[in-house]
Amino acid sequence: MTTEPLTDEGHDERSVDAADGSNGAIPPGPDGYPVVGNVHQIMRDPFGFLEELRTYGDVVRYRIVGNDVTALLHPADVQRVLVEEPDRFERYLFADRGFDFAPEGVLFTHGDQWRSQRKVVEPAFTMERIRSYAEPMSAYAEELAATWDDGEEVALNRTFSRLTLRILTKALFDVEVDPGSDDEAITRAARLINEQSSSRSFAAFLPRWLPTPGNRRYRRAMAAYRERVDDLIDRRRGDGGDDLLSNLLHAETPDGETLTDEEVRDNLITFTFAGHETTSLALTYTFVLLATHDDVRARLEAELEDVLDGSTPGFEDVPALEYTDRVVTEAMRLYPPAYMLFRKATEDAVVGGYELPEGSIVALPTYAIHHDGRFYDEPDAFRPERWADGYEAELPEYAYFPFGGGPRHCIGMRFARLELALVVATLVQRLEFDLLSDPEPALSPGATLQPASDVRVRVRKDG
Ligand code: HEM
Repeated sequence: MTTEPLTDEGHDERSVDAADGSNGAIPPGPDGYPVVGNVHQIMRDPFGFLEELRTYGDVVRYRIVGNDVTALLHPADVQRVLVEEPDRFERYLFADRGFDFAPEGVLFTHGDQWRSQRKVVEPAFTMERIRSYAEPMSAYAEELAATWDDGEEVALNRTFSRLTLRILTKALFDVEVDPGSDDEAITRAARLINEQSSSRSFAAFLPRWLPTPGNRRYRRAMAAYRERVDDLIDRRRGDGGDDLLSNLLHAETPDGETLTDEEVRDNLITFTFAGHETTSLALTYTFVLLATHDDVRARLEAELEDVLDGSTPGFEDVPALEYTDRVVTEAMRLYPPAYMLFRKATEDAVVGGYELPEGSIVALPTYAIHHDGRFYDEPDAFRPERWADGYEAELPEYAYFPFGGGPRHCIGMRFARLELALVVATLVQRLEFDLLSDPEPALSPGATLQPASDVRVRVRKDG
């Protein structure tokens, strides 16, 4: 790792006075209260708060209970932190407030331990392997559609959580989750991880060791989650196979070691959490947008008719589903499931002309950048058409980054994109959802971008 101070290349419109490239000032930002800082503003209106941050510039300072956070709102700075200088900005997940549900898993580890784990899990995400996951993705979506009656009311977010968990455990662990026991324990714990980290709740800003009722509920749910995961491991420990779970249990790291029991378990927790809740949210928001945009829905149906002609979509169909891809891309722009990424500076740095001392927490607000009018016309409008004809190549790099970037980008990106295309195509061919809850759902940003309450729809099956 190099030790030169970071400079501010690429931002020549900003003033840079000091010899180290900084302008010597601390970044501007909203005033807060002593101790709690800006927590009250974030809790009252997290997205209004993001809007307000933008008014201070591209590098903005705010405070949350004893921590200074520097938000970077320009794609060039995102690229720098994620891609160009990843060793100087390591992933930060507020573990001090108990956000450490799988400390020995690939989402949380750093340095050589992370590199070894990433090597062990990578073979499960090659194109060949991803191709083999297409079958359960379409088949389970088809089954789900068949279980619904015309006129039935469902909570989309909950239904999609169960669907994506089922797909994930079958594809990656070759295990069928037992509906009502495994999936309840896992989706419930995932919900509580989100609830406990929701910016709308004060609990998110309290240490996890405090004996509050919320913390006790969370601990009980996590214990049940661990039990389920241990059970999944036991069901497969003696087997061979070359799925992700077998890799975790048997594959050797570059040092010739296998993962510890703790690492295996924490990686199962990591994959079941990171791999189902995010995709479920992307599906939920995509269907909310489809239910409120008849023109988009009609164009999508026309594409599916044209490409699939009534058949169930498979891996080979996906490249031809161009409009489907644009719909999902645009839904994740408006509602990025991972709406904000955090990093910690491992040494003194200068970004956008401002000094960031070692240990500074850096926020990369995906949501705010995805809604920035400097990069997107009508940034709040749902316009899948905007992604046509090389539009993405014209965008500044990292103006769109729902899967992060650099060495720690989402390992499940291709898995998720395939799943989204196949599930959307399978369901849109078979049914429509009439939205019963708010067409612009209130959001509750926790670990992921949750809706504040269930998204309720009525299933419509014509014919
Ligand atoms: C729409 C769906 C998804 C979205 C939006 C998403 C988003 C992200 C983002 C933004 C990151 C990087 C976080 C950071 O840099 O701080 C990430 C990391 C990760 N994601 Fe995903 N993800 C999705 C689906 C999946 C799936 C399906 C899996 C597994 C099958 C998965 C597994 C992971 C893992 C293990 C990491 C940590 C990678 C590492 O640090 O090496 N994700 N995801």
